[in-house]
Amino acid sequence: MKAISFDAHGPADVLRLVHVDPPVPGPGQVRIAVRSAGVNALDHKIRSGALRELFPVELPHVPGLEASGVVDAVGEDVTGVRAGDAVLGPTATGAYAEQALAEAARLVVKPVSLSWEEAAALPVAAETAWRGLAALGLREGETLVVHGAAGGVGTLAVQFAVARGVDVVGTASEIHHSYLRELGAVPVTYGEGLAERVRAAAPGGVDAAFDVAGKGDAVAVSVELTGSPERVVTIADPEGARRRGAHFSSGGRAAPTVPALTAALALHEAGTLRLPIHRVYPLAEAADAQRASEHGHLAGKIVLTVG
Ligand SMILES: NC(=O)c1ccc[n+]([C@@H]2O[C@H](COP(=O)([O-])OP(=O)(O)OC[C@H]3O[C@@H](n4cnc5c(N)ncnc54)[C@H](OP(=O)(O)O)[C@@H]3O)[C@@H](O)[C@H]2O)c1
Repeated sequence: MKAISFDAHGPADVLRLVHVDPPVPGPGQVRIAVRSAGVNALDHKIRSGALRELFPVELPHVPGLEASGVVDAVGEDVTGVRAGDAVLGPTATGAYAEQALAEAARLVVKPVSLSWEEAAALPVAAETAWRGLAALGLREGETLVVHGAAGGVGTLAVQFAVARGVDVVGTASEIHHSYLRELGAVPVTYGEGLAERVRAAAPGGVDAAFDVAGKGDAVAVSVELTGSPERVVTIADPEGARRRGAHFSSGGRAAPTVPALTAALALHEAGTLRLPIHRVYPLAEAADAQRASEHGHLAGKIVLTVG
């Protein structure tokens, strides 16, 4: 099968189109004939080596954490998923490939009304947003600040929080403010003077903060605004969390993928889900896709078309 692989950490140029044997599903796993793969900010950090300690990978490595596609092989002890099913979810092997393995229990059925590209864009953003909000223990009527609210994870975090009756203030570049208003958040610009701008946007005070950007002093500002590091979660600034006593959240096998995807698909069914596709690249142009992801300030998610 065709796959994108790198055999040394480094810039996007290390990504190569290669031919490798298709992976074979183990117990509890299925193999997906990938139609589309999501490109995440995590992918370029894993490739560059910046996340060597948090997300160590064996080299050569096929990147990609999420996919949509059709199940084409089923391992032992799999129930509820069959060959031919159209699915989406996190992958256990690299999704930048014609075929990838996934834990069957972490997949959901793809609705016909959701495109392959939209489906591939959902798993990481939805799971991460869901996990972060759960760690914050938000209650209806509370006010939440989301740092980096217009990105992949932020977009889902805002929508999940709004659906729970939480008031959301979201930080973003000005170009993304009207988008945040459409999602139901009050937009503010990040950077110097952030705390004052958030206070003006939330005169009743801030109960909790979710940093999905990991830039600047978002964690410190969040602790100042909420008055308690226990109501501050970051997914992108472990060092800031450690210094301020806030919570750093990372995924893993216990990640709440199915509840998160079920909630996202319920919003889709209701016709309200927003997760725009910034750009679609063919598999062979994965390096360009990661360069765009690394540059940031995207209007939605980047995905690869594979099958
Ligand atoms: N720990 C985990 O489990 C986990 C899981 C998934 C992702 N992550 C991490 O979470 C982060 C976000 O991922 P993503 O996929 O949502 O990335 P993304 O789509 O690229 O979004 C990043 C967002 O950060 C915003 N931003 C840039 N500079 C900022 C600043 N100085 N202050 C506040 N916001 C700023 C951008 O806003 P504008 O475009 O409006 O400028 C953009 O919306 C990445 O660092 C990723 O590695 C962690």
